[in-house]
Amino acid sequence: MADRDYSRRQFLGYAGVGALSTFSGLSFAQHGTVVRAASSDFEPDIEIDLTAKSARVPIHDGPKTLVWKFHANLLKGPEGSVKEIPGSYLGPVFNFKKGQKVRIYFNNQIPQQCIVHWHGLHVPQVMDGHPMYAIDSGNRYVYEFEVVNRAGMYWYHSHTHELTAKQVYSGLAGLIIVNDDEEAKLGLPSGDKDLPIVIQDRSFTAENKLSYTSHMREHMMGFLGEEILVNGKPDFQLPVSQSAYRLRFLNGSNSRIYKLGWDDGSPFTVIGTDGGLLESAVTRRYITLAPAERVEIWVDFRDKKIGSIQTLKSLPFQGMRHMSAENALPEGGEFSIMSVKVATAEEGGDSSQLPETLSKIDRLDLSNVANPEIPLSIALRMRRMNWWLNGEDFEMLEATPSERVSVNSHQVIQFDNGFQTRGGMRLPHPMHMHGQQFQIIKREIRRNYQGTYDSLSEGFVDNGWKDTVLVMPGERVTMIKPFEDYKGLFLYHCHNLEHEDMGMMRNFNVV
Ligand code: C2O
Ligand code: CU
Ligand code: CU
Repeated sequence: MADRDYSRRQFLGYAGVGALSTFSGLSFAQHGTVVRAASSDFEPDIEIDLTAKSARVPIHDGPKTLVWKFHANLLKGPEGSVKEIPGSYLGPVFNFKKGQKVRIYFNNQIPQQCIVHWHGLHVPQVMDGHPMYAIDSGNRYVYEFEVVNRAGMYWYHSHTHELTAKQVYSGLAGLIIVNDDEEAKLGLPSGDKDLPIVIQDRSFTAENKLSYTSHMREHMMGFLGEEILVNGKPDFQLPVSQSAYRLRFLNGSNSRIYKLGWDDGSPFTVIGTDGGLLESAVTRRYITLAPAERVEIWVDFRDKKIGSIQTLKSLPFQGMRHMSAENALPEGGEFSIMSVKVATAEEGGDSSQLPETLSKIDRLDLSNVANPEIPLSIALRMRRMNWWLNGEDFEMLEATPSERVSVNSHQVIQFDNGFQTRGGMRLPHPMHMHGQQFQIIKREIRRNYQGTYDSLSEGFVDNGWKDTVLVMPGERVTMIKPFEDYKGLFLYHCHNLEHEDMGMMRNFNVV
């Protein structure tokens, strides 16, 4: 467990060497303390009061389920900036516009330490929810940042060291949707035709309590639940009209990978990924969605009969984990996720078209990187019953010399999951990097893993901006990542949350 004194001591120690430049306003926690206060020279367009606390929500028939939930109030800013998902344990959706300045008062009212991370947003170190800033129960941390990301769907979740998996599982997650002018001009389906869909797996006791694993083996592998919830609900059915829709999927599961496919075999028109719209739509027979990844589709229900139902499934693939939890849906098994029911005609019809060009993506290329010959290479590995990155475990405030990068540089980074070195247990790892998003430039697979790989690889969508990439057993993925604007410690880790909590996480030190 995270020991408070330990982290605080480390934190002070680190501050003492002057490596941190930007934490004015920090005072150290006692009960009810404002750990980071609002600064007077920041002029917010939006102010939100955000509290993590327990709640009872209806999930299954019978008793309500006790969860931890983000509650939010909009204190200042355009109406609709904070939008509840009715009846869900998920936090409300934040609707931001690129260029807005946002202040969020985060209040921790769960009975353990907590801190919030804005997954995919490019913000300074003190605003990023690094676990070194975890605050005690009862305390407050004020975030202030400008939304500089392009339009897309991002998300927020707790990021408390060694407790992230448990806290996210208990409900501490929500969506952030960023809009910008470029996107608004496209006339994509909007309003009630632009819908977020968060897929998570959970297990419940007979009394409707959430049940989470305590078995070592499940921690090693990652939690797999017994049933699928969509936006916090089981047996989710989406009523639609005979028109075109934009559906935005987040895999908000701790560790489960989905192979999304329609039961009638119709292909997907994919328009976006982690960092928003692609340059133009691509077609996929199925979509592979690993934890923390997002994918956006444009889907047309105009030709469907009223009353028709389409089911979204996870299609079979070669599972890599054999679980001990008896009733868990097996990895790679086939099951349904949700259904869509064409319920109504579209008044006045819908004649909208999907634009040919969706966005402009500035391609990062090797001519601009700091290390074209020597990629920053990170080996993913199991050793001594733990997960390691280049043989290192997580250290709150440490980075090795190879993890030091110059600010405003672009780096070639490789995650190697047994492509070069054989042996050891190999699992898929959804690798995530904080800070700016990256572009994938190459995937290589070791021959003897080809079969597993081929059962998922057609579903990758690699040609947009990404912040999380699934690295399959035997695979090496190469990408280019910019480290612009902000110095400091920025995490990279496996987004299998059990792996992350076991220490499969490290810092880049941007200097
Ligand atoms: Cu979504 Cu460091 O996490
Ligand atoms: Cu993140
Ligand atoms: Cu992992």
